[in-house]
Amino acid sequence: MTTQHVGYFVGSLAKGSINRILSKSLIRLAPDNMEFTEIPIGNLPLYSYDFDADYPPEGRALKEAIAKVDAVLFVSPEYNRSIPGALKNAIDWASRPWGQNSFARKPSAVIGASPGPIGTAVAQQSLKQVLAFCNSPLMNALEAYVHYTPEIFGSDGEVHDASTENFLRDYMREFHEFIARVLTVLPKDEL
Ligand code: FNR
Repeated sequence: MTTQHVGYFVGSLAKGSINRILSKSLIRLAPDNMEFTEIPIGNLPLYSYDFDADYPPEGRALKEAIAKVDAVLFVSPEYNRSIPGALKNAIDWASRPWGQNSFARKPSAVIGASPGPIGTAVAQQSLKQVLAFCNSPLMNALEAYVHYTPEIFGSDGEVHDASTENFLRDYMREFHEFIARVLTVLPKDEL
């Protein structure tokens, strides 16, 4: 099996982001033939269609980063029961200019962590709706709503709980298989 290249978004700009920690756990537990590159969102200006005629370097870099990868993974907090503004801004940038939507036919998966008990479930529903509109083939199962505690997650992404570790390993294995299935019918180089 050839290596899958996955770009991942961390939906938080916070230095101590628990979703960044979760992203480290996911990378640790992913199958060996998946490679990960973070796609940064913190340097983007606020999107306006006034930029469409001449995207700034940050907007072009974002679109080029997505074009390079086989799939995208969103690891995001829930802010006020929805998608954090910085992440939505990045998605808006990548979805435009009209006709050049970077997410079209790009496989994706969504996951997130919260100290709260529902583990970003509401934000994930919003994010999945957005990705569906952006025509991204989206992994529907497994779903992963991570209830974060510092006892379970070490700062470098170590997972100190066997059932959480097994679940996250299964999640990444499922994503790997999902990407392979999508690329079978929608080969990346023919898009
Ligand atoms: C939150 N938090 C939060 N948690 C949640 O489960 N549902 C929510 O709707 C919200 N809303 C919310 C809004 C804002 C503006 C902030 C700053 C926080 C708490 C949130 O889950 C917690 O701060 C996490 O640490 C955020 O993840 P990152 O940024 O650390 O990855």
